[in-house]
Order: sequence, then structure tokens, then C-alpha cells
Amino acid sequence: MSKKFFIKTFGCQMNVYDSHRIAIMLENFGFEETSVQSEADLVLFNTCHIREKAAEKVFSDLGRAYLIKQERAVLNKDTIIGVTGCVVQAEDEQIAKRAPYVDFALGPLTYHRLPEILTEISRQKGQTLIDTDFPAEAKFDFLPQNRAEGGCSFLAVQEGCNNFCTYCVVPYTRGAEYSRPVEEILEEARHLIKTGTLEINLLGQNVNSYHGEDKSGKERNFAYLLNKVAELEGLKRLRYTTSYPADVDDDLIECHHNLKQLMPYLHLPVQSGSNKILKAMNRRHNREQYLEKVEKLMTANPDLRMSSDFIVGFPGETDEDFEQTLSLVNQVQYIQAFSFKYSRRAGTPAAVMINQVEEKVKKQRLDTLQNLLFDYQTKFNMSCVGKEFDVLFEQNGRHKGQLIGRTPYMQNLHAKADKSLLNKIVRVRVESATTNSLCGKVV
Ligand code: SAH
Ligand code: SF4
Ligand code: F3S
Repeated sequence: MSKKFFIKTFGCQMNVYDSHRIAIMLENFGFEETSVQSEADLVLFNTCHIREKAAEKVFSDLGRAYLIKQERAVLNKDTIIGVTGCVVQAEDEQIAKRAPYVDFALGPLTYHRLPEILTEISRQKGQTLIDTDFPAEAKFDFLPQNRAEGGCSFLAVQEGCNNFCTYCVVPYTRGAEYSRPVEEILEEARHLIKTGTLEINLLGQNVNSYHGEDKSGKERNFAYLLNKVAELEGLKRLRYTTSYPADVDDDLIECHHNLKQLMPYLHLPVQSGSNKILKAMNRRHNREQYLEKVEKLMTANPDLRMSSDFIVGFPGETDEDFEQTLSLVNQVQYIQAFSFKYSRRAGTPAAVMINQVEEKVKKQRLDTLQNLLFDYQTKFNMSCVGKEFDVLFEQNGRHKGQLIGRTPYMQNLHAKADKSLLNKIVRVRVESATTNSLCGKVV
């Protein structure tokens, strides 16, 4: 019987992508995936360090994994416990101290060394093997070929960040910006399409600062890459996340006018509507520049709608600053958004700023902001009732005979549909809507 692995993923889409590539690597190594943790011979947590809560969750999950490991030991079954992802990069010593039973810990840039580590573990039982290098070799050169899991696939084109927003751990956990060469990305995209992908979501911490080399060694921008990917035969839909507002250039804006594969939905995080706070956050854009980019994008494609990320309660944020955020939301009318209370992250400049905002105030502001965001989201969803959309069905619904898919605007839509329509793009008429989803009928 083949050995089994269980993997739990925290954090952003880049981690989802990494977990998928790790899973392929483990399958090639003779493991089979299971969704039942207690039957796994290898338990892996792919972790996120972005906010305190996310990072702390890992330690409670590890504690539980250790209990299961002990229970399995009574039945003479070995369990390897591993940690990958951003917590490893930031807290490798704490992992070794607080969870000494962890067999290995690999950073986001070293997980391609997993097969070596597994071989090593069988030789050195009882030690925690840690590898948090920022290696000179690119991990992508060492990973087995990616393949589609369904109709939608992520494809990492860029990793790391040089922006150093004062609240953010990513430049420390994912390191400096690295762009994969154009050809390598196209090769991966072709494989994804060949194995069933209709939609590709190009990923990067700061995807639109992409500057990879083409065949001739010439540096190319993100718009060039988008055009190249859009030319691939068989690809129906194209998305990209996450972009940095200051790096949205005219070439990219033109893509939203020219490329029919590019979906009319863009995640463009603004964080705050106050120039004072944006400056303290070290964002390279102010409110006016952000709004100008949004306007240009929406002129290029009038169907385009926006989503964003917000942080409330950043150090020094006053009621007036917060009002500015609300007024920006009213101006842009986002159709979806993520919003968070500022979380103090050790080692970042904002963590030691003296004007921290009280927890109670943060909570109030988050409630107010989320109510406003939900209003716009609901309003947009309601406005879709009666309209027809192309929906890519991605999974089975909760009820039999039902499928769940996504509209071009990333809304979840469920409809009565035959299983044969899974991983296909189907025309659907929207019949009802709530804040979080749509319900439709295949036409
Ligand atoms: N690279 C992306 C964001 C990556 S992190 C960008 O620049 O937009 C995803 C989101 O988490 C951020 O947009 C921000 O809103 C939030 N975030 C990051 N650090 C945070 C912190 N210390 N506290 C609260 N939210 C944070
Ligand atoms: Fe973090 Fe800012 Fe980089 Fe985004 S741009 S990953 S928020 S430092
Ligand atoms: Fe989290 Fe790392 Fe992504 S900190 S948000 S998993 S880049």
C-alpha cells in the first residue's frame, strides 16, 4: 500500500499554488493524498505569517498533529510532521523550540528540496531539519511539471516583494522580487492547458512588477507576458493577482482594452483612502494616483469592476483618516473586498510606531467598513439578476445535481447542472442573488 500525505494550506493563493506543486512532488515520490489527517504518514502544514492569528493557528494545529502522531505510534505507525511556507521563514527557531517534534521545516523558496529532506529524515530520526535558505537556484527549475487539477489553474510568474510596506512581512518571508523567464511560464501554461485548464490566474506577490527575460535575454514587462499567454491556443480566460497600484502602467491598461481573454475583474489593493496613512504605510501611491489608475482602467474596459484589500487601525489612523477610506469606497464601489484590522508584526517598522490604535477602535472601524463593502457587493450581485454570464463550473454543489462555478466577476454561482458540465464554460442566466453568491439556470 502506498504511503499517504495530508496537506493543510493557510494564506494566499501563492500558498495554494505551492501546495499543489508540493502535492505533485510527493505523488512522484510515491505518496498518495488523503483528506483524513489521522491516516496520513506525512502531515504537512503550508503556513502563512501575514497576521498574528494566522501564524498562531499553526502552533495549535501542530499540537493536534503531535497527539495524532502519538496515537498512531501505539499502532506501530510512523508519522512525519512537516511545516512549509512563510511561518518557517520568519519563525524557524520558534518552531524548533515550541514544536520540537516537527521533523522538517522548509521555507517558501526551498520546498523543492523536499525529496532530499525526506530521504535525510529516514537517516536522522528525532531531529528537526530546517532549511530557510534564499537559494541561488530557482526552485522552479527543480519541480516536476505542473498539471491542471480542474478548469482553473494558478501559475506563479513572480515571487517576492521589494516594496516594504511598513506593516508587511512578505518582503522578509518571500525575499526579494524574482521574475521567472517568459518561456518557462509559457511552457507551464501549455501543460496546464493540455491537462484541462481553461482559465489561468497568473500569480505574484506583486505580479505587475514582473520583469522576466524572453528567449533573447531581453527584459519584458507584465503586459508583454499577458499578451503572450493570451495567444496560447485553448486558453479561454485569463486573470492576474495581486497587482500593486503604482506599477499599473499604460501597457497593462491597454491589455484590459485589447485582450478578450482577460476577465473584467481586477484586484487592486489600496489599503487606505488617507494620504497621510498611505505615506506612513510606505505605499508608492497616494489616493489621487490610485483613483486615476482606476479611472484609466475603467475607460479601457467599461465593464471592468474592482476589488481591493483594506487595513483599518494602522498606527496613527484617526477618525478623519478612516472617513477618507469610506469615501474612497463610495467612489470606487468595489464589488468584492478583503478588510483586516492592522496586526502588529515583529520586525516590521509599523510594529514599533508609538501611535498604535486601540483594539476597540479597530473593531468598530472594521465593522463600519465591512458593512459598507457588503452593501456594494450585495448591490452588484442584485444587479446581475436577469443577466446572462459565461460560468466556469469548478466543483460539485452541496445538493445533488448542482454545480458551483464562477462568473467573469469571480462571483460564486450555483445552478442545477449535469456533472458532464464540470470544468466547462457554460452560459447561465442569473435568477437570484445574495451578498455572497448567485443562483442561476443553464440556458
Ligand atoms: N502583495 C499584496 C498583498 C499581500 S498580503 C499587495 O501588496 O497588495 C494581503 C493583504 O493582507 C494585504 O493587501 C493587506 O491588506 C493585508 N495585510 C498585510 N499585512 C498586514 C498586517 N500586518 N495587518 C493586517 N493586514 C495586513
Ligand atoms: Fe506586502 Fe506591500 Fe509587498 Fe504587498 S506590496 S507584499 S503589502 S510589502
Ligand atoms: Fe501569507 Fe506568505 Fe502569502 S505570509 S499571505 S502565505 S506570501
